[in-house]
Amino acid sequence: MMSSPVRRARTEDAGSVAALAARTFPLACPPSLAREHVADFIATHLSEAEFDRHLADPAHRVLVVDGAGGPVGYALVLHGAHAEGPEALRGAPSAYLSKLYVDPEHHGGGVARALLDAVRTGAEGLPVWLGVNAENARAKRFYAKSGFVVAGTRTFTVGGTTFVDDVLVLSPPEWPGA
Ligand SMILES: CC(C)(COP(=O)(O)OP(=O)(O)OC[C@H]1O[C@@H](n2cnc3c(N)ncnc32)[C@H](O)[C@@H]1OP(=O)(O)O)[C@@H](O)C(=O)NCCC(=O)NCCS
Repeated sequence: MMSSPVRRARTEDAGSVAALAARTFPLACPPSLAREHVADFIATHLSEAEFDRHLADPAHRVLVVDGAGGPVGYALVLHGAHAEGPEALRGAPSAYLSKLYVDPEHHGGGVARALLDAVRTGAEGLPVWLGVNAENARAKRFYAKSGFVVAGTRTFTVGGTTFVDDVLVLSPPEWPGA
């Protein structure tokens, strides 16, 4: 398998990362989530302006792997103290892997693995955690084989429907002091 070089996204990448985010976000959504709610989420949270904001924030990391025509995978990591997430980590600094998305033609090709390795290295010992929709079997399998363990659940409500995310953390040996 070819290795996939990972780099920090730059200001000028905001548009191409937003386009990648918009075309890949639906892949992670439960089938029962109405398409208009998916479109609303993309317009609100995955716009070029939102990526401009992430790229300007020193606590936010946008990592990409490039393909022939632009980025084919990205990760968004938010470093800091987070109100949601595993109870044991609340109030303490952690690395929240908010997004990890790869174009379907690159699934199984090592892009996600390379991005996750870079997230882990960049976390510099901070615990890494994320939320994944309980129905997202492929992502759950990827995270399990990458060393994540279930630390709880969280819910979110969109358009009157409540969905459940599994909250996962990299297994405790990765935690400082464990
Ligand atoms: C999640 C994601 C980043 C993982 O990257 P990937 O390249 O697909 O990951 P891999 O192929 O290395 O691993 C996926 C594993 O799930 C398995 N798998 C594939 N389809 C599956 C399914 N329907 N059910 C269960 N497992 C499945 C694969 O066989 C593989 O396991 P294996 O290596 O033991 O054979 C990528 O699939 C993706 O971008 N998905 C869409 C967006 C998304 O869901 N992001 C995560 C949001 S939290």
